Formats: sequence, structure tokens, C-alpha cells
Amino acid sequence: MSGFVHIPVLCDEAVHWLQPQAGKVYLDGTFGGGGYARAILDAADCVLWAMDRDPAAIARGAALAAAYPGRLHIVEGRISDIFNLLDSSGVNKLDGAVFDLGVSSYQIDDASRGFSFRHDGPLDMRMGGGGLTAANLINTVSESELADILYEFGEEKASRRIAQAIVARRSQQEFTTTADLAAVIRSVVRPDKSGIDPATRSFQALRIAVNDELGDIEAALAQTAKLLTPGGRLVVVSFHSLEDRIVKRFFAGAAGRAPAVSRHAPVSGLPAAAPDFRLLTRAPVVASAAETRRNPRARSAKLRALERRAA
Ligand SMILES: C[S@@+](CC[C@H](N)C(=O)[O-])C[C@H]1O[C@@H](n2cnc3c(N)ncnc32)[C@H](O)[C@@H]1O
Repeated sequence: MSGFVHIPVLCDEAVHWLQPQAGKVYLDGTFGGGGYARAILDAADCVLWAMDRDPAAIARGAALAAAYPGRLHIVEGRISDIFNLLDSSGVNKLDGAVFDLGVSSYQIDDASRGFSFRHDGPLDMRMGGGGLTAANLINTVSESELADILYEFGEEKASRRIAQAIVARRSQQEFTTTADLAAVIRSVVRPDKSGIDPATRSFQALRIAVNDELGDIEAALAQTAKLLTPGGRLVVVSFHSLEDRIVKRFFAGAAGRAPAVSRHAPVSGLPAAAPDFRLLTRAPVVASAAETRRNPRARSAKLRALERRAA
């Protein structure tokens, strides 16, 4: 048993907006340490399907599943594969779903997983098994691809300078550790007034690229929305602007609030179909000052909720 703990963020709020009810079936797409799962199961006598791509999270979940016999089913897999994973378990509709995106403290605080620039470890960053590690990526992609990754997924303004330094260094010696990579980034980016470590944005970018996190979110939202029963709710907690932008746009589109297409687009003359969903949260729900004090991870969290309209 590891000594790491994950303090769930916006957990009471997620349960509040999900509104679990007895006899209904829910999905927790990002099981992690099971904090949300436990809270949902305690809130109502419902059935919960939980999913995580990290085998370590699945293994940790066994004890929780045993504590809620017949009510908690945990499946290993990616949220981009929700249809197949649930279908193969005979589930083809959901009364609600929740996603608490990103990495857990179990992952980030465990140096051997290679997510952190604070603890030295192998440059891995994979949430699940298989696929390329961050070291594979860093040591092989072209300088311009690397700069694009850092810019697009880390919103890193110094992306070109960092990519250049990485490529220069790897021509001498390949990267194998997180400390090594962080040191090269810090050697070319000065800390700004915010006090944030200069390696923060690059590490976020690499993690997103290694795990195709943004592609998974888009796929998961689209698939889950199709599985929701009338009155069913979709609740998503995001931790940075790239995630939140995807959620916000998807929810706006589903609720018929997407920004108008080009004014040059042809007008069909047909009335727009009534949207199938309604936004429950016009503005994102954020953590209280008290929660942020207790748990600094809560600082950047944003919760949005959507409901399928009754038929
Ligand atoms: C922030 S943690 C969730 C914490 C959880 N709500 C709790 O209360 O303990 C996110 C979890 O989602 C998992 N995850 C992230 N992206 C995923 C994806 N695309 N498919 C499946 N699991 C994913 C991670 O492995 C991690 O365990």
C-alpha cells in the first residue's frame, strides 16, 4: 500500500450536481482514489460503474468495491472507449456521469510514475500501460513538433527556446529522468512573478501529449451524452483552460448555445431543432476559499454540469 493520498476536489459539488437517486445507474469515468465513487454510493442506493485507465487505480478500488457489494463495478480502460467498455458489460444507458479530469495525487506524487518535476524519477508520464513514454517523445520528435506540443498543450510562450535547448542537449545525451528535463527547461526560462516553476507548463504539455488527454475528453463527452437517459446529468471537473474549453464548447453546443456559424453560411430556413440538453451551470462552479486553503489542487478546478431534457 503506498503512502500517497488523493484529496478529491469539488466532491460535494459534483455529487450535488449529479443528484444520484436510488435504483439508478451512474458512471464515474475517472475513478482515481475512489473519493467521488464513495460519495456517490453514500448519497443514494444506486449502482455505479467506475472506470480508470491506470491499473494501479483499479487495484486500489477492489477494497471499495467489496465494501459496496453489487453496487460498484470497476473497469480498466480509457474514457474514449466508454461505449465499448460499458456495452461489453451489458450497460447501454446511464442516469448520470461524472468526470474528474487529469492526474490524481497518487500519480503525480509517485516519483516512479515520472509526472513530477519536483521529485526525480524516470521520464514516463503514462497514466496507463502501453504507448510511448515522455522520454520516447522527448528523445525522438523533431524540434518543431516539440515546440508545437509545448505551445499547444502547455500554452508555453517560450516553446521554441525550450525545444531548441532540448534538442541540443539530447544530441549529446538522451533524456531519461524528470529532474534532468526540468533542469534544461529552467536553464532557458526564468521564473516569473507568479512563483510558478518554469517547468510546470512543459510538463503539463508532455503529459497531455503522452496520454492524448484532450482527444479522450472529446470522445468521452460525445459518447456519454448519447448514453444519458432523459433527466440524466453529466458533470465534469477540469483543471486547466484547455480541458475547460473543450467541456464548455461541448456543453454549449449540446444545449444549443454554440456561437453562431459564419454570417456568410447559407440560411436553411428551417427552425432549429430544440436542443436535447440544458446547461445547469451558466458559469463554472469553483472551489470555496476554505477548500483551496485545505487543498491547493482545488485552485484551478472548474465544474460544469449539463442535463438531458425529459423526452
Ligand atoms: C483527478 S483523478 C480522479 C480522482 C477521483 N475523482 C477521486 O475522488 O479519487 C483522475 C483519474 O482519472 C484517470 N484518467 C485520466 N484520464 C483518463 C482517461 N482518458 N481514461 C481513463 N481514465 C483517465 C487518471 O488515471 C486518474 O486516476
